[in-house]
Amino acid sequence: MSDDSTPALRADTSAPRTESPAPHTEGPAPGTESPRLTPAESPLLRAEGLVKTHHGEGAPAHAVRGVDLAVRQGEFVAVTGPSGAGKSTLLHLLGGLQRPDSGSIWLDGECADAWSEARWAVERRKRLGIVFQFFNLVSDLSVADNVELPALLAGVPPKRARTERAELLGELGLAGKERSMPGELSGGEQQRVALARALVNRPPLLLADEPAGSLDSKGTREVMRLLSRFHQRGQTIVLVTHDARLASAADRVISFFDGRIADDAELDSGTPPRRAGISGVLELKD
Ligand SMILES: Nc1ncnc2c1ncn2[C@@H]1O[C@H](COP(=O)(O)OP(=O)(O)O)[C@@H](O)[C@H]1O
Ligand SMILES: [Mg+2]
Repeated sequence: MSDDSTPALRADTSAPRTESPAPHTEGPAPGTESPRLTPAESPLLRAEGLVKTHHGEGAPAHAVRGVDLAVRQGEFVAVTGPSGAGKSTLLHLLGGLQRPDSGSIWLDGECADAWSEARWAVERRKRLGIVFQFFNLVSDLSVADNVELPALLAGVPPKRARTERAELLGELGLAGKERSMPGELSGGEQQRVALARALVNRPPLLLADEPAGSLDSKGTREVMRLLSRFHQRGQTIVLVTHDARLASAADRVISFFDGRIADDAELDSGTPPRRAGISGVLELKD
């Protein structure tokens, strides 16, 4: 639909220029091969000493009280805990949507502490896909435009954005819905569109906050099956959920309680290398 008629989107991509000189490291030492590979030791996401207190009307809410966390490339980590435990706050901190009072975050070995809002916005487009409980689709944009938007914002040429969009929507069982408006879709379908939107820039890390929280059991199964499928292809995922049943799709479960990590367990101790196949989709038992 919208070809080159997106000047507003283009304009926005220049936002990062407000940043001080890009602190991108100059790449590996001369002669090192595979410059793009992260050293095995370096987690995709690392947090240390994260603390966040919300100051609302009442007493301050100590939502996150000192969290250390490392997520390796390819892991599917579920963070579970009761409502009010601080899970969403933690996820918001990890995605730069809120700032910690103290503590540090590294993405792919790069410290994010000094990143401005604008820088975080740019890095989110490149490195992070985020899915929320309520899909947050743009209600007056078609399904196709909702999914293409982040790609266009990231400066992807419109033609490629369209290709990526078509591929993802097909994969998520939404082919034929491109022209629909979000309000015409079921909750499960809307959440799949949100998933497509989060994944369109192929982000190394997917952050999901109760992505099935407002869906019926069919929608929940669909979303979880899709997360599992992307994970099996190598997608790193941090999933926040109060539903322990959903956490069982992950291979590592962190129990979060009262702002702290109470337990951190690998579900499948003999974790096999995860590169496998498109066909191995986890079936969630009802
Ligand atoms: N923006 C906010 N302002 C004030 N208090 C907040 C805010 N966000 C969360 N809280 C409080 O912080 C605590 C943790 O909330 P949250 O991170 O949403 O937990 P969870 O996602 O586990 O339910 C709760 O007591 C909640 O009321
Ligand atoms: Mg929450």
